[in-house]
Amino acid sequence: MKKLILAHYYTLPEVQAAADIVGDSLALSIAAAETDADEIIFAGVRFMGETAKILCPGKRVVLPDPEAGCSLADGCRADDLAALKAAHPDAVVVSYVNTSAEVKALTDICCTSSNALAVIRSIPSDREIIFAPDRNLGAWLKAQTGRENMILWDGACHVHQGFDPAVLTELRAAHPGVPVLAHPECPAALLEQADYVGSTAGIIERVGAIGADEYIIVTEPGILYELESRYPGRKFHTVPGVDPDRRRCNECEYMKQITIEKLQAALDGQTPEVTLAENIRSAAEKSIRNMLTLRS
Ligand code: 13P
Ligand code: SF4
Repeated sequence: MKKLILAHYYTLPEVQAAADIVGDSLALSIAAAETDADEIIFAGVRFMGETAKILCPGKRVVLPDPEAGCSLADGCRADDLAALKAAHPDAVVVSYVNTSAEVKALTDICCTSSNALAVIRSIPSDREIIFAPDRNLGAWLKAQTGRENMILWDGACHVHQGFDPAVLTELRAAHPGVPVLAHPECPAALLEQADYVGSTAGIIERVGAIGADEYIIVTEPGILYELESRYPGRKFHTVPGVDPDRRRCNECEYMKQITIEKLQAALDGQTPEVTLAENIRSAAEKSIRNMLTLRS
């Protein structure tokens, strides 16, 4: 049986090293949609495994840690989104891929941080949009597109919300002229200080395009494994946590739940597969397929 291991850039270095494909949320969704493997082992959090299962109902999809959640996905309940939809029946519902299958089933089109701008620009300007669940990404999209008719869900990723703008200001002062690259899940006070805003894959590509010796990176530090492997000799500064007692500050503890031992157990067939009720899966599929038509 052919098995494919997918891993997100925020997972542990040894997990990324063991994967067949390492990528951002969009690239991994595309890889899941296009693989001819019989089984997908998804070293990522629950919404990622669910997305793969939505796209590949006939394949076995396994999460090394089925309990690995996501603060964004967990902060957006399907019944609350249904109530918001009922209050705005003509709105187009755009959901970040960091959502449960039940939320995707209520969504017209999903997006990731890679293609969110293209998704918003694909919607006629006179149509109201409900954007869930990341208020920071939503506010950035509003600012980039000048679009006022977007209703933003009040959710955030605790990792990116936790970066302190004052700490970034100090870091920039300590490293004058060093380019700042930030993920759009960060609040506006950080994004305003960035030279580039983009997904994890976008940040990695942009480092290659800039060609400087040093960078300030404002996202989860798991990305350093790919940056340092791809660009040896360059220096990457991450924004430190503000609370010295929080040893895992600015790390996604959910992504770090995926250990190499759990990955091995999944490979050995010891981990249950992802299952979804077929009515939810099929209702969610259209929103993911719509997303895959807009890749950048
Ligand atoms: P991307 O993979 O789109 O960069 O998003 C980062 C993230 O938070 C995934 O959980
Ligand atoms: Fe969710 Fe944030 Fe972790 Fe990504 S980094 S999985 S958005 S909690």
